[in-house]
Amino acid sequence: MADKTFISELKDQAGQEVTLRGWLYTNRPSGKVQFLILRDGSGLCQCVIEKGKIPDALYDALSHLGQESSLSITGTVRSEPRSPGGYELAVTGAQIHCPATDYPITPKEHGIDFLLQNRHLHLRSQRPWCIGRIRHTVIDAIRRFFNDNGFTLIDTPIFTTIAGEGEQTLFEVDYFGQPLHLAQTGQLYLESAAMSFGRVYCFGPTFRAEKSKTRRHLTEFWMVEPEAAYIDLKGLLELAENFVTSIVQRVVKENRSELETLGADIAGLEKIAPPFVRLTYTEAADILTSPRTQEFMAGQLAEFQAQKAALERELADIEEQDKKGGLKKWQQEKNARRVPELRSEIAELEIKIENNPKHAQLAADFRWGKDLGGSDETIISLMHDKPVFVTHYPRAAKAFYMKTDRGNDKVVENFDLLAPAGFGEIIGGSVREDDYDRLMDRIKEEGYNPDSYTWYLDLRKYGSVPHGGFGLGVERTVAWIAGEKHIRQCIAFPRLMDKVYL
Ligand code: 4AD
Repeated sequence: MADKTFISELKDQAGQEVTLRGWLYTNRPSGKVQFLILRDGSGLCQCVIEKGKIPDALYDALSHLGQESSLSITGTVRSEPRSPGGYELAVTGAQIHCPATDYPITPKEHGIDFLLQNRHLHLRSQRPWCIGRIRHTVIDAIRRFFNDNGFTLIDTPIFTTIAGEGEQTLFEVDYFGQPLHLAQTGQLYLESAAMSFGRVYCFGPTFRAEKSKTRRHLTEFWMVEPEAAYIDLKGLLELAENFVTSIVQRVVKENRSELETLGADIAGLEKIAPPFVRLTYTEAADILTSPRTQEFMAGQLAEFQAQKAALERELADIEEQDKKGGLKKWQQEKNARRVPELRSEIAELEIKIENNPKHAQLAADFRWGKDLGGSDETIISLMHDKPVFVTHYPRAAKAFYMKTDRGNDKVVENFDLLAPAGFGEIIGGSVREDDYDRLMDRIKEEGYNPDSYTWYLDLRKYGSVPHGGFGLGVERTVAWIAGEKHIRQCIAFPRLMDKVYL
């Protein structure tokens, strides 16, 4: 449509008459004026409709129009700091395309299950929209970083013949009678490509039959994996911290208003810069079992209890006000919106209060040799306001392809990167075992069939070099940056272990 302007372009159009095409977000009609908020996918805009400036019948039809009706609105652009994007439209005309009645998702609080069952509509709501825009920037920043730094994109297969990350999480597919599985990682193929191109990356959907119903697990997620020849652990950590910093700073620059709407910690994100914290696994284990961690956990518990008490007081005040009556309509509406928010914040704090002693106990009982669990990662990352690298995990707890530390064969040259503020792991990576015999031993130790790994072993036969890489999970990165607790909100159509909604 030729005469169409996007809300995001209004800042260049003050004083001009434009036509916006979109959907009705909210409307506050009164006898003489309506404040209609239109959304068009690029933003929200307040449209002020004065009675008498458009035909009475149209004025009336607009005032009865339901949420998510599609319409075009024409008007003059003017600056208005109270309008969502800083500009509003003084309306001169409108055209209703498809009226909607009883749109199921209203501005009041809905349960997450209901919202995901209605994900085809829920995507239009503010929160998923803001997260979707941030995800878009994250993905663009990922590609730009590697393209600008000499990496070649290699598209690795989705149907794969060998396991990279343990056979327990493979999705098997019947490939014309041959059992194959969906890609758990592109890494093994990427190692082969790195010996051709030097620095490579792959980026695509990743599948894991993960039997974890946690806020950090999806069965289908997006992972970007760089791989480089002639790199050591120090080089990998530097690459990872520069990479993560570039993503975060791009989002802070390009999605500030989305971050504000979501209530994300913008000041915390602005501080993300190299160098990140570096801990060895052994140091992390010592932290977990130290008295300092128990004190930290006790402090957290006291903080959660104080927050809960404050929210309960606010809830009681609102209930008291409502009981007394005599409130203005806007106050009643404000209270009606706040009550479910308070209830859900209190419920979340109750879970944290219940889990705190269990997590403190798990930390106290942590023994060298175990992989770090979700709650251990949360504790370590809560204790730092910058991302934390944890390196040199026990060999037995990690994947077969990781290079044994030549100075200490109990550990491998690997790392996980934990995002701050309790978010936890967003990257896993390592230097790869480049010695043929050691790799063969590890494949046998894991009980894999060496015949399946012939081509992978070949890479250690013909010009083997030190090399390594890592994988960053897109949804976990988006969740951390956006301040979203559950990663299911960070992909348009999530696949969870126990539920595939649409
Ligand atoms: O630590 P992981 O398993 O590492 C690998 O797959 C390596 N092959 C990467 C490499 O070295 N090339 O996974 C890497 C990241 C995790 O840190 C996490 O962000 C994400 O992938 N991830 C998941 N995200 C959502 N749901 C899941 N089930 C995930 N499993 C891993």
